[in-house]
Amino acid sequence: MIDGTTNIIGVIGDPIEHSFSPIINNAAFEYLNLNYVYLPFHVLSENLGSAIGGANKLNIKGLNVTIPHKKNVLVTLNHLDPIAKEIGAVNTIKFENNEAIGYNTDGIGCLHALENKTSVTNKDILVVGAGGASRAICYQLAHSGINSLTVINRDLAKAEELTSNIKNTGILSDLNYDNMDNLILQAQQTDILINTTPLGMKGYPDQNPILHADEIPEDIIVNDIVYNPIETNLIKEAKEAGAKTVNGVKMLIYQAAEAIKIWTGKEAPKDIMENKLREILTTKIEEKKI
Ligand SMILES: NC(=O)c1ccc[n+]([C@@H]2O[C@H](COP(=O)([O-])OP(=O)(O)OC[C@H]3O[C@@H](n4cnc5c(N)ncnc54)[C@H](OP(=O)(O)O)[C@@H]3O)[C@@H](O)[C@H]2O)c1
Repeated sequence: MIDGTTNIIGVIGDPIEHSFSPIINNAAFEYLNLNYVYLPFHVLSENLGSAIGGANKLNIKGLNVTIPHKKNVLVTLNHLDPIAKEIGAVNTIKFENNEAIGYNTDGIGCLHALENKTSVTNKDILVVGAGGASRAICYQLAHSGINSLTVINRDLAKAEELTSNIKNTGILSDLNYDNMDNLILQAQQTDILINTTPLGMKGYPDQNPILHADEIPEDIIVNDIVYNPIETNLIKEAKEAGAKTVNGVKMLIYQAAEAIKIWTGKEAPKDIMENKLREILTTKIEEKKI
């Protein structure tokens, strides 16, 4: 029940109606019996600074930040967690002692999702895409004891920039980049392949998987961070090839769980959150069929 002592957490973005974060976070707060509520806030870019200042003054405890504010929000914050600073983007804010502290839980969310299936230590990892999610994942992996990281992107300059920025930090030396034409070849030489492009995402014009079953080695792990649909065409192809798979729902849940830990200090009920998300995603698909 919402009362005078309820703590408010929210998510800011533009648009925001599509966000699943209120559903999974409120399910977690309810299960943990915490007096917290999680709300969506539609914030336009021109109002970002005043929205952050206002949230602080309204004694809101924390926020998630989504597209298009993850980079631009940095200048409105008082402190940045070291990995958020490296990534140059924030997806979680905690308000404490009248100050706003920025974090990025996307990379650690992906890492924990992978660790469900395998350790990343000493692994060769291939990341397809060099956008915002890729940046967070690449920096986190570079900190996590992997052997090598290769980034493949349609715009080669972006892959080059990302890998050379990580190299300059000195956290990983074996960093490479390549263009999409060499994807099949690169996939043969990797232990873990992570798709961070929106190819295959519901509503995205191109539903083609980045690789087909006969191009995927059976001894690799394929992680598609696209979570809607739960089973993307890439995940289907990887299963057909006999490879192990990690779907995007896992990363979404683990990044949310890390944010809950930052705000409340509590371990989030990941199974409860995942079941709730699966229920919603499946219902939406069923509704569409009708
Ligand atoms: N599971 C999760 O928790 C989670 C979290 C964050 C994001 N995501 C998902 O990850 C995806 C990417 O998000 P983002 O924020 O990183 O997006 P973004 O910053 O816009 O980056 C998109 C990347 O995909 C590439 N790309 C786009 N269309 C392509 C195409 N037709 N062919 C080849 N490459 C293409 C882009 O290449 P160019 O550089 O050449 O344009 C870019 O590298 C979205 O589907 C999002 O929903 C999932």
